[in-house]
Amino acid sequence: MATLWGGRFEKETEQAVYDFNASIRFDKRLLKEDIEGSIVHVRMLGKQGILTPEESDQIEDALRTIREEVADGRLMVSETYEDVHSFVEATLIERIGDTGKKLHTGRSRNDQVALDMRLYTRNHVDETIEHLYELLQTLLSLMEAHQDTIMPGFTHLQKAQPTTLAHHLGAYFEMFRRDRERLGDIRVRMNVCPLGSGALAGTTYPLDRAFTAKELGFTEASRNSMDGVSDRDYLIEYLSALSILMMHLSRFSEEIIIWNSNEYRFVELDDAYSTGSSIMPQKKNPDIAELVRGKTGRVYGALMSLLTTMKGLPLAYNKDMQEDKELAFDAMDTARDCLVLFGGMLSTTTFQKDVMCRSASKGFTNATDAADYLVKKGVPFRDAHGIIGRLVLYCMEKDCAIDDLSIQELQRFSEAFEDDVYEAISMETCVNERLTQGAPGKGAMEQEIRFCKEYLAKTNRNE
Ligand code: ARG
Repeated sequence: MATLWGGRFEKETEQAVYDFNASIRFDKRLLKEDIEGSIVHVRMLGKQGILTPEESDQIEDALRTIREEVADGRLMVSETYEDVHSFVEATLIERIGDTGKKLHTGRSRNDQVALDMRLYTRNHVDETIEHLYELLQTLLSLMEAHQDTIMPGFTHLQKAQPTTLAHHLGAYFEMFRRDRERLGDIRVRMNVCPLGSGALAGTTYPLDRAFTAKELGFTEASRNSMDGVSDRDYLIEYLSALSILMMHLSRFSEEIIIWNSNEYRFVELDDAYSTGSSIMPQKKNPDIAELVRGKTGRVYGALMSLLTTMKGLPLAYNKDMQEDKELAFDAMDTARDCLVLFGGMLSTTTFQKDVMCRSASKGFTNATDAADYLVKKGVPFRDAHGIIGRLVLYCMEKDCAIDDLSIQELQRFSEAFEDDVYEAISMETCVNERLTQGAPGKGAMEQEIRFCKEYLAKTNRNE
């Protein structure tokens, strides 16, 4: 047992109590952020004359060495310590003696852990924004390649109207674009530094909070020290954004699974992104898509868990808040893996253009256009709707498409049919005449693709 707080206790902590209370098993992943925060804190203490410049430098150097040694595996984080903060401080004292004992001046583990978790989350938000960029790039290239790939659009999972694969994928582009923008919004709100809040009521040392905030890349120091140590809104917002992102990935996965089914065969998954069966030799399963769909529940779970943990907490810090970590880390790992794997699967998938187009022409997806054709010939829409309905019934009995019928057969249903009907209700016309903004017609889609390209170009952080 290695704690920072033995002084006022007369008895040893029960081992089971110690184990139950300790968080090092999971908060050791905050080591980098913990040391980053400590370095800036100690630099500020030196600048403010709270520590001498020599003390401050000596502590900073030792902290850097500890960080390097842990990073390259020379130093192991020992799980006998209560938490990562205790481990770092104890290691520091072991190395530089009494000066190391001055690190925690004007600080509490409450504002320390609030800072560490915020830094970790902010990094993760940035990574997710990058991963989303990759996924959007993949989507954009597919959209560009499939502007003429005709497929059925569905409502109620019933074939509805013809569209293109570019248009269908474009819907996901919009979802992931919103996800990415949502992360940007959240990042602005989360970018406030709690360091210097102390245990809850600030401190009597003349800390320069604006300095530490700036050094750590925050826009400002938190405005209320009680809120500073007990705010986990940013994490709840992030988990909720990840939940929405997972919901989108899960919907997309569901479609891939359907498209990959023997009945649809719209896609062929790459061998490298699918798995087989131990008993049925013919199987090639969409496990990655299924896992992404399945793991969505874990991320929702983390969100619900933290909302529930926080709902009854009086101000300021309570140990309940230690529960903000395990599931949040799991959700962050899960969402990252899902994003990366899903992107890999998508970019290696083959879309079966012919199957998709055949499917669109088989399911009466041009029935609306056939009715619209009659309307253009002077038939009132409600009558046209009835005529085409009867025509569809007739075709179903004959097991053919509307445009398989001869002009004479068509004219039995309405005198208004003329030879130009075939051109008017061909899959290509049905799609390309849809030119309203956001529709699949070539002109509209080209404009959309241009927008997507510009969006990616202007929001690429690496440029
Ligand atoms: N492991 C703790 C947490 O994650 C660190 C803060 C401890 N603060 C305290 N007052 N015991 O919340």
